[in-house]
Amino acid sequence: MTARLSVIGIGPGDPAQVTVEAIEAMNAVEVFFVVTKGPDKQELVDLRFEILRRYVREPSRYETVEIRDPDRDRTPSEYRATVAAWRTARADAWEAALREHLHEGSHGAFLVWGDPALYDSTLDVLADVLARGQVAFDQHVIPGISSVQILAARHGIALNRIGGAIEITPARRLADGLPSGAEDVVVMLDAATAFTAISEPGVHIYWGAYLGSPDELLIDGPLDEIAGEIERVRAEAKERKGWMFDTYLLRRAR
Ligand SMILES: C[S@@+](CC[C@H](N)C(=O)[O-])C[C@H]1O[C@@H](n2cnc3c(N)ncnc32)[C@H](O)[C@@H]1O
Repeated sequence: MTARLSVIGIGPGDPAQVTVEAIEAMNAVEVFFVVTKGPDKQELVDLRFEILRRYVREPSRYETVEIRDPDRDRTPSEYRATVAAWRTARADAWEAALREHLHEGSHGAFLVWGDPALYDSTLDVLADVLARGQVAFDQHVIPGISSVQILAARHGIALNRIGGAIEITPARRLADGLPSGAEDVVVMLDAATAFTAISEPGVHIYWGAYLGSPDELLIDGPLDEIAGEIERVRAEAKERKGWMFDTYLLRRAR
């Protein structure tokens, strides 16, 4: 009997934003694979353990296996090659853990931050591992609430305007300004403050950091007026916590 592997979206930080479907799946799992990223991001790992403590009714029925994520250069000169090498190293580590701990007939899971479909490499890495043919499993994906949904909810806005499109982009693609023709652009994975490079007038920013956590920060207003304030608040929070997760919507005036 083949093993089962669930990829479970857990939302972006608030245990109250874990879905009923995710909780039911967690209660059927025997081994949770927890990817760790070093001391700076330990809070993100701790939240996964907190979710298990809170929602799994019989703690004695599961074990956790930690997999240390390979380190990655966040500002490489060769972006695609660097990411490809990192994914290979990741697949090596995951394959080794799965071979050792996911046995025939058992049920394992990865708990994925936010939603597995949005800027998360778990599904790609597992596809690589499966393609190598050394481990076999039936995979099931359970969606989670994403940081983008929390951003919109907290600001009380819809992401699109009537009949309009939404573009979701990593911040590094803003180097040349907002994409031409785009009206509403959601920006993720901002290693610095990419919004400060946008000089065009008439853009409104809806910014959110640590969404869904007790440290949540929200600011919105005309970008040319409040970019400096967001930059300052962001820098202070990053200094205090040691890491930063922010997401924002840049909205061009119609
Ligand atoms: C690797 S991606 C993961 C996205 C995740 N799968 C999701 O659905 O939100 C990490 C990026 O998501 C955004 N993000 C994740 N959690 C967040 C949070 N709690 N508050 C603000 N942004 C968050 C940030 O843009 C961060 O750089």
